[in-house]
Amino acid sequence: MSAVDVGVALLGYGTVGSSVHRLLVESGDEIERATGHRLRVVRALVRDPSKERAFPAGEGVLTTDFAAIRDDPRVTVVAEVMGGLDPAGTYVRELLRAGKPVVSANKQLVAREGAELFAIASAKGVQLRFEASVCAAIPVVKVLRESLVVSNVHRVLGIVNGTTNFVLSRMERGGTYAEALAEAQALGYAEADPTDDVSGADAAAKMAILATVAFGSRVGLDDVETRGIDEIEPAHVSAAAELGTVVRLVGIATLVDGAVDVRVQPALVDRSHALAAVDGAFNAVMLQGDAIREITLEGPGAGGIETASAVVADLVSVVGTSGTGFLQNDACWRELPRLDPGAWRSPFYVHLEVADRPGVLAHVTSRLAAHDVSVAQLVQHLRDGEATLDLVLHEAAQGAVARAAAEIATFPEVLRRPFLAPVISERPL
Ligand SMILES: NC(=O)c1ccc[n+]([C@@H]2O[C@H](COP(=O)([O-])OP(=O)(O)OC[C@H]3O[C@@H](n4cnc5c(N)ncnc54)[C@H](OP(=O)(O)O)[C@@H]3O)[C@@H](O)[C@H]2O)c1
Repeated sequence: MSAVDVGVALLGYGTVGSSVHRLLVESGDEIERATGHRLRVVRALVRDPSKERAFPAGEGVLTTDFAAIRDDPRVTVVAEVMGGLDPAGTYVRELLRAGKPVVSANKQLVAREGAELFAIASAKGVQLRFEASVCAAIPVVKVLRESLVVSNVHRVLGIVNGTTNFVLSRMERGGTYAEALAEAQALGYAEADPTDDVSGADAAAKMAILATVAFGSRVGLDDVETRGIDEIEPAHVSAAAELGTVVRLVGIATLVDGAVDVRVQPALVDRSHALAAVDGAFNAVMLQGDAIREITLEGPGAGGIETASAVVADLVSVVGTSGTGFLQNDACWRELPRLDPGAWRSPFYVHLEVADRPGVLAHVTSRLAAHDVSVAQLVQHLRDGEATLDLVLHEAAQGAVARAAAEIATFPEVLRRPFLAPVISERPL
């Protein structure tokens, strides 16, 4: 049987776009064997067609004219691999309205404008897929939407940013945050401007998408409580080690009594927990649900070829699904309220720097107790008339812990603002 030719267009022919083309050419036989389709790149949108490309685009493929792609009858499916919100969002809207299915690797676009894009896709009966927008090669969107469709996932834990994971893993071997970040930049794990990564913004976009898919209810970027890693100091990392944990930037999405909480923040992860083993620039997502208990997916969360493999998988899936398929449209089938962030419960870690005076510890613990918060573990160090107190608190509402910490911060013997972070552990705390 001869293969059905399918015309593919790429919006963008950079790191990911050229890798998508490479995979479609080099794996063309495998794709054809599996699907009966031969996917051919017939158009690719760029800014500068004269630039040298990592994989040749082919004669007449590169164009700077978006309309030439939208209106080309040979184009059956489009991969948006150009990034940014505008014009990428405008182009995706126009393509969907023109009845062309779109696969996107653009987390900012899906996290910010997903609701509108999915509404257009639904109205037009075309597919919009976005696996590559979260954790590149890790097929977590597919697993959530397809494999776990009846699993009632109620918690998603993710290490979804390789740059911050590299920096925090590096700090375990000594050195400051600034030194670890400089090394990440020198090795190509961090951009020259790392703000998006270290501020937690990149992870927040991914967690908004994952929570939306996992809970079937729209989670926007503004719904994600976000803290970055720039406040992490060597003292936190060494105290974490003494407490049997490691510091990681963790995304936590939780469904609590029908309300959604999504946050990205530094957390202390118990060494025996699966996420603690995620070292360097890798990503991992742990899914917890009624029927599945726990599934962890781990792998490279970035990289041109890794991201391209997810784009190609989505392209193949679109081509192999008749009509709109069952996964095609908006994953959101309900509107869940947001949990009051102060009501979110977790064990917490508190780092305090205090004057070494009699009664300080009792003063701190009695203030915690006044908010119904109790201490599970304590490490104390004394030096030059000062003391550090590193406390692990039993599970408590975040609001209660934050209020207690704000009051403790006003004590005359407390030298600096307390540092707070949730603790992730399978052990009851
Ligand atoms: N690289 C990764 O590891 C990775 C991982 C996960 C997700 N992603 C996502 O994948 C997408 C692409 O990333 P990338 O690393 O491949 O980016 P890139 O190397 O900068 O490539 C972007 C491509 O888009 C084209 N382009 C950008 N703006 C354009 C415009 N206004 N008009 C026409 N063409 C335009 C560029 O054209 P020129 O070549 O002419 O400049 C270039 O070919 C982004 O959404 C990114 O977040 C990337």
